[in-house]
Amino acid sequence: MVGAGQLARMTHQAAIALGQSLRVLAEARDDPAAVVCSDVVLGRPDDPVALAEFVRGCDAVTYDHENVPAEQLAALAGAGVPLRPSPQALVHAQDKLVMRERLTGLGVACPPFAPVGSVREVRAFAAEHGWPVILKARRGGYDGRAVWQLTDPGHAESVLDSLPGAELLVEQRVPMRRELAALVARSPFGQGAAWPVVQTVQDHGICVQVIAPAPDLPPARAEAAQRLGLRIAGELGVVGLLAVELFEVAPSAAAPDGLLVNELAMRPHNSGHWTIEGSRTSQFEQHLRAVLDYPLGDTTSTAPVTVMANVLGAAELPAMGVDERLHHLFARFPDAKAHLYGKAERPGRKIGHVTVLGTDLDRTRGRAELAAQWMSTARWADHGEAHG
Ligand SMILES: Nc1ncnc2c1ncn2[C@@H]1O[C@H](COP(=O)(O)OP(=O)(O)OP(=O)(O)O)[C@@H](O)[C@H]1O
Ligand SMILES: [Mg+2]
Repeated sequence: MVGAGQLARMTHQAAIALGQSLRVLAEARDDPAAVVCSDVVLGRPDDPVALAEFVRGCDAVTYDHENVPAEQLAALAGAGVPLRPSPQALVHAQDKLVMRERLTGLGVACPPFAPVGSVREVRAFAAEHGWPVILKARRGGYDGRAVWQLTDPGHAESVLDSLPGAELLVEQRVPMRRELAALVARSPFGQGAAWPVVQTVQDHGICVQVIAPAPDLPPARAEAAQRLGLRIAGELGVVGLLAVELFEVAPSAAAPDGLLVNELAMRPHNSGHWTIEGSRTSQFEQHLRAVLDYPLGDTTSTAPVTVMANVLGAAELPAMGVDERLHHLFARFPDAKAHLYGKAERPGRKIGHVTVLGTDLDRTRGRAELAAQWMSTARWADHGEAHG
């Protein structure tokens, strides 16, 4: 797996049970997966020498991020090791403009968009679709770091001035009801599998919570989202996992199912962390099964409701260490499952997640929120929940 972040770390955990050894390409010795895998190659994902050394002897190559440049992927494809997903599929997760154009060509509903290089072009787009608009970098964004909401022409000018030479696109700010994600897997053999559609909750462009299944999602819309995920995976020739980030909107001629595609990820995804405990097959195991062309696993849920909450680095580092926080968490919620990524704590950084299974939506959600907040700030928020 190219990359050694938390996704590789959790994929490694699944690889152990399958009797497979996961080699990771790590940028630093203390990357989350590099500290747990025994087979670590150090190097950057854009360094052709490091990549060539890394793939030598691998049965298949997959990724925990989108940062291998197209030229390097083409060179690796020539080295004879199966790349899963292929560079031709992966480009749709690397480049938001390529993805928008391809999906639109397939008749998949997306927010209105346009490539832009000047304030004049942003103004022309906004004249048609209204302010504010959403500006995005074509490549390299994550956790909302390359997404800007532009409120007016003056704001557009100052943001564009700060991004000289950047390749950008602009989108209509979609009036959405909420964000959903459809997670599917596809094997080289052509088998597909879909998990229940989830609701994702973002704060400042960062996913903070995932609720599985998405509450009150009409069954027809849930099925449409799953079919959409499987269709996109098939059309683009995805191998491995595909996460389709969706906006739920009022149904219209442009979005008859009430769904617009936001973006695609072709790897385990934050919206699928809940599957470790909440599904018979976790997304990490499924990704490996698909990449290795095994039959795919059962995606049945293990509980009526599963809530995953990300643990973010706090604005002020708590005096209490992570060990002590875990101790208190487990004393209060013996059923909560914690996954810590071994990352240094920095404000807003995803350092782990917690998962709570249950039967009642509000109660399960409240417990997951409390658990994550505790792990982050070492402060119990007042949710009106009794101790015990
Ligand atoms: N067209 C849009 N209209 C309204 N909100 C949007 C739009 N595009 C993006 N957003 C908001 O910004 C968030 C981040 O956007 P996007 O998913 O494109 O960026 P990213 O940084 O690549 O995300 P990720 O963290 O998933 O990698 C979305 O989850 C959504 O909340
Ligand atoms: Mg996103």
